[in-house]
Amino acid sequence: MLLGDEFKTMKTKIVTIDSNNFKPDELKEAAEILRKGGLVAFPTETVYGLGADGQNPDASGKIYAAKGRPSDNPLIVHIADLKALKELTAICPEKGRQLAEAFWPGPLTLIFNKSSKVPYSTTGGLNTVAIRMPAHPIAYELIRSSGVYVAAPSANVSGRPSPTKAAHVIEDLNGIIDMIIDGGKADIGLESTIVDVTTEVPAILRPGYITAEMIEQIIGKVEYDKAVLTRVQDFNIKPKAPGMKYKHYAPKGDLTIYEGNSKSVVRAINKIAEEKLLTGYKVGIIGTDETVSYYHKGIVKTIGTRKDESTIAGSLFEILREFDSEGADYIYTESFENKQLGQAIMNRLLKAAGYHIEKV
Ligand code: TXA
Ligand code: MG
Repeated sequence: MLLGDEFKTMKTKIVTIDSNNFKPDELKEAAEILRKGGLVAFPTETVYGLGADGQNPDASGKIYAAKGRPSDNPLIVHIADLKALKELTAICPEKGRQLAEAFWPGPLTLIFNKSSKVPYSTTGGLNTVAIRMPAHPIAYELIRSSGVYVAAPSANVSGRPSPTKAAHVIEDLNGIIDMIIDGGKADIGLESTIVDVTTEVPAILRPGYITAEMIEQIIGKVEYDKAVLTRVQDFNIKPKAPGMKYKHYAPKGDLTIYEGNSKSVVRAINKIAEEKLLTGYKVGIIGTDETVSYYHKGIVKTIGTRKDESTIAGSLFEILREFDSEGADYIYTESFENKQLGQAIMNRLLKAAGYHIEKV
């Protein structure tokens, strides 16, 4: 739920920093806020994060309050060196170490058994902890210079699409956190891949930019948490990543995914769009560079090109937010191939659509 403006009473400092060219000094105040138990939103290579001192229960408590996040949904702890990994984990299995070495800093989160240095307030009461070393220069330098382990969920109000730009964070959290660092667009645009390495065969709990194929090249077999593979809403499947159970990433409008060959999908979307428009609704359509010129009704946007799925990943959350601000009642989207990066895209789309797929 978005807080009403009357609750947004804090003065949030917004600073712009050039991700490719900044001096460590520019992050001094942000680092100080983190050390003192405050909240700073910062860019990462995946999405913007809302950071606080992960070892300070008061500070992480502020994250839950600011986001309206259920307290059983654990936070990812962000680190800037491998020494921290040793401190925060009870044991670091060989496969975990190999994945950390292969993909950190980068868009991969690993689940370990936690050490006593990680408070339960950060792990939502679990005995495991999620850890990631981000590659984004601002995120990395902020964590390093603050000297704290930075607990950071995505910097959106719970339930809204994750923020890929500072403007999205401002939309959700201005007036309720201490600082927002604007470091430009988050490159990848989808949250990190989460891999649980506490089990003999590690499992992917959330697909992302680092794919199963990339992981298997390093450690051999990897499994999927059941909840990742489901294509229907099934309340009996309890995801291992508590956050994956919530209706997530959801735009305000009613989103439906159309699946089938390209021509049939375009035809079906044009037809339903026309019907809804005639009954007075506002309609949004998500096409691709390849199809966008074939849609004739409603607000039509291209999400990117099928020739390069990273363009699609990069604009998914932004497009959902745009349709929110434009007040779309119904949103219709094409579907994407459920492999490699497409798997992460479809995972987020399915959740955003409440698993509503029309096969045509
Ligand atoms: O890319 C990202 O991962 C971004 C940036 C800011 O690093 N962060 C992010 O955090 O997406 P958040 O809180 O929006 O998503 C974290 C997910 C949630 O689904 C949560 O339930 C899961 O990670 N998680 C955290 N700790 C866990 C644990 N110990 N066991 C299983 N799942 C865990
Ligand atoms: Mg999130």
